[in-house]
Amino acid sequence: IKVVFSGMQPTSGVTLGNYLGAMRNFVKLQHEAQCFFCVVDLHALTIPQDPVQLRKNTLDMARLYVAAGIDPDVATIFVQSHVSAHAEMGWLMEVSCYYGELQRMTQFKDKSAKAEVVTTGLFTYPALMAADILLYDTTHVPVGDDQKQHLELARDIAVRLNNRFGREVVVVPEPYIPPREAGGRIMSLQNPTQKMSKSDPDESATIHMLDTPDAIRKKIKRAVTDSESEVRYDPEKKPGVSNLMVILSLCTGMSLDEIAGRYTGYGQFKKDVAEAVVATLEPIQQRYKELCEPGVIEEILEKGAQKAEAVSTPVLRRLQDALGLLPRK
Ligand code: TYM
Repeated sequence: IKVVFSGMQPTSGVTLGNYLGAMRNFVKLQHEAQCFFCVVDLHALTIPQDPVQLRKNTLDMARLYVAAGIDPDVATIFVQSHVSAHAEMGWLMEVSCYYGELQRMTQFKDKSAKAEVVTTGLFTYPALMAADILLYDTTHVPVGDDQKQHLELARDIAVRLNNRFGREVVVVPEPYIPPREAGGRIMSLQNPTQKMSKSDPDESATIHMLDTPDAIRKKIKRAVTDSESEVRYDPEKKPGVSNLMVILSLCTGMSLDEIAGRYTGYGQFKKDVAEAVVATLEPIQQRYKELCEPGVIEEILEKGAQKAEAVSTPVLRRLQDALGLLPRK
């Protein structure tokens, strides 16, 4: 692992799935590689956003990165739209990937089926994501399981460009996706065969990183399990219980086997899951509050944008040059 890049959309209600599937790993990886963690506000614009809310969510997303333990002196935290190379590289990706490839993206199919308006940006979303990644000569991309197909596209584009030019113009990135039992796919509390999602209309299905302890306890108490009473990891037959086991395991460090051996029913199990989630999120929420002091996160983001720009501009130039764009004198 040399260079790590990942991004999160600044939409309200960052979830426990976002944290356990991705952000938690960012914190670990920051000491192992050069890391770039981006607030992808341009991606958020693919669906209609209230401007005031988008600005607030952008700051909040950055605050959560820092509150979760990403050290801005170690890793680079920045806002996508602050570094114009992203939009420029996005175009170069759009002309390097095929209509048919984008049409096959399952996330586009899902989102466009639900959306009231389907913007062109929603369709080309994965091309911009490939741009984000390739701009930093990224070797590894930590994401949840739902981003796998987008990552494969980024790899395909990179391989294609290198083949076309017969040399390594861009670095082919590797996915860094935890297996399900390690948080790669945290499921909805109400419908545990679906992933936990920010946009779930059922409030009790999703734990948000900024939920109060009481809200967290209520949601876990109400979480769907099954009619047995055995705490056993079996995502096929016992999706609800298995999901809670994964959450408990990640929040405490206990293995799934240890957890399975501990309980004879769901009552105490659910209580322990709730307390483990509260104990995990409370210190993050505390730091988040401190970071709401005016100016603090803004300064971090300014430094981050400068670092990100310094690294990404030469990579953009390298590809522009390979593609035959005339350098400005
Ligand atoms: P976004 O904002 O939807 O989600 C952020 C991260 O959280 C992960 N995630 C989950 N992991 C486990 N279980 C879940 N239920 C769950 N829900 C979400 C996502 O996989 C993701 O890692 N397209 C990206 C943002 C992006 C990006 C990039 C990521 C833009 N450019 C470049 C990596 C590299 C997205 O929409 O993430």
